[in-house]
Amino acid sequence: MRYLNIEKVNPGMILAKEVYDDDGRVLLSLNTKLTKEYITRLSIRGYQGVYIEDELSKGIQIEEVITIELRNKAAQAVKDGDIDSLKNIAKDIVGQLLDKDKSISLDIQDLRTYDNYTYKHSVNVAVISTIIGIYLSYDDESLWELCLAALMHDIGKTKIDPAIINKPARLTMSEYRLVQEHARYSYDILDENGLIPARTKQGVLHHHENEDGTGYPDRLVGDEIPPYAKIIHVADVYDALTSKRPYKKPYALSEAIEYLMGGSNVLFDRNAVEAFLEAVPVYAKGIEVTMTNGEKAIVVSNTSNPLRPIVRLIDSGVDIDLNNNKDYISVTIAPHTVVENDFTSVYEKFDG
Ligand SMILES: [Fe+2]
Repeated sequence: MRYLNIEKVNPGMILAKEVYDDDGRVLLSLNTKLTKEYITRLSIRGYQGVYIEDELSKGIQIEEVITIELRNKAAQAVKDGDIDSLKNIAKDIVGQLLDKDKSISLDIQDLRTYDNYTYKHSVNVAVISTIIGIYLSYDDESLWELCLAALMHDIGKTKIDPAIINKPARLTMSEYRLVQEHARYSYDILDENGLIPARTKQGVLHHHENEDGTGYPDRLVGDEIPPYAKIIHVADVYDALTSKRPYKKPYALSEAIEYLMGGSNVLFDRNAVEAFLEAVPVYAKGIEVTMTNGEKAIVVSNTSNPLRPIVRLIDSGVDIDLNNNKDYISVTIAPHTVVENDFTSVYEKFDG
């Protein structure tokens, strides 16, 4: 299977992964032959792409890191603010991730719309944060505390006017200050619950602190920032940057990774970024890339060099191991065409 941006999907293509609606119901099932009408509807609903199966992508297998059922259940519990269910769900997420063999790789592109952004975002942040925790050799209990914090990090947004949270434009400074309050609100909600570990609450409260002290709510610096908060911060910004929103295009994974690397020790904790880089491929399986010699290809699998995966040429269907093929020694994957957002403004918008 391979991933195609919605603009590139044509009628007649076959779906390789189900598409779910905002309530977790199957909207289009596996093997659906796409029509013009389906594609238009997906596009209007805000899906950024789909997985398709075709001759070219034969043999490229992409696995979910947690089941779709668990993902949907988690998103629903976040939506409902159901803290008791989230405690069990965090246990299940940790369990499913630990069940994978040693090398968990986040290849899958999440299929989501604008409307379910907040809930799915929280689940993604939980999965990414837990994987970072696994790479940092956290024990089971710490992984659970971390996962729970990540699931609930933005739960306080429910106390802020949805018109501001969902505003499809840049926030004014006063709106931005209101949005910043969500970190404290999230903490307060968990504190009222009474049965949430202190480290989980601290992780939630400080998930927008920057290493250099420019974050909020308490402008903490470096080691003052609690460990779970440092991890959630990395996962949160990565997932926000790679999402499509009504007012911005998604960044390519490679661009978002560059942003995190550039912000290492300034905005983000270096260890958390390094653990993240082990788990998230620069070029995910099934995505289309253009190379510096002009050839277009699909990523088949990763190699020991994250920048040089095995790719399949679109014109010929031939697989090339960029890490070992002598003919391609001077060929690299071309930088993604930079989208028109600038990092500062996007970061500001997504900082909430
Ligand atoms: Fe947040």
